[in-house]
Amino acid sequence: MKEMKDELKQIIRSVKMYMETERLCGIEDFFVQPLSYQRTLEQLEQEVSGCRQCPLYKSRKNPVFGQGNQKAQLVFVGEAPGRDEDEQGQPFVGRAGELLTRIIQAMGFKRQDVYICNVLKCRPPENRNPLPTEIFACRGYLLAQLDIIKPKVICCMGKFACHVLLGEDVSISKVRGKFHDYNGVKLMPTFHPAYLLRNPGAKGLVWQDMQKVMTELKK
Ligand code: URA
Ligand code: URA
Repeated sequence: MKEMKDELKQIIRSVKMYMETERLCGIEDFFVQPLSYQRTLEQLEQEVSGCRQCPLYKSRKNPVFGQGNQKAQLVFVGEAPGRDEDEQGQPFVGRAGELLTRIIQAMGFKRQDVYICNVLKCRPPENRNPLPTEIFACRGYLLAQLDIIKPKVICCMGKFACHVLLGEDVSISKVRGKFHDYNGVKLMPTFHPAYLLRNPGAKGLVWQDMQKVMTELKK
């Protein structure tokens, strides 16, 4: 108890000293951002375009923020931009992207009806897996995107999106096929389209998962 009081006193003293120094430098007002301050997707994209929170900004050609309907009921979350995405600044435009587009169309949507983004906004060199430090640096952008869009259903594709949104490192085979809760939003984990290109036998399982999503969205 005494230790806590001493620590508090010390904190108050250093804040006073800090403010006194600011005052001596001519600064008279402090602006505190209200806790409820909510950025728009455009503001967030602007932040991402100048982001230097991890070293991937050095090798990226373009950050890939996300694409689609800002009021989408359905959001797809992948892993990270690949070569084509890095070139074009848009998510899922390469081979895996073509497959994702076909899945979206088979569900009765157009690409522009839904929203598509990734855990990482910048391309890892040689398409290696995202590093934990990169995910830590970047995940706030994804969580803010989901918070702004407020979809009814989120489909997380592949190990990394599932890990970030479920909050634990899980095996996709174990968690896919049923809805999980993400802050009150229905979360459907499924295989990544790039995995389906290598393992076409798993397409049927993904289609089962997407049918559950369609039922939830009354498609
Ligand atoms: N793979 C991903 O995870 N995201 C993309 O945008 C493209 C390929
Ligand atoms: N392992 C992955 O990393 N992704 C998948 O989609 C399936 C297995």
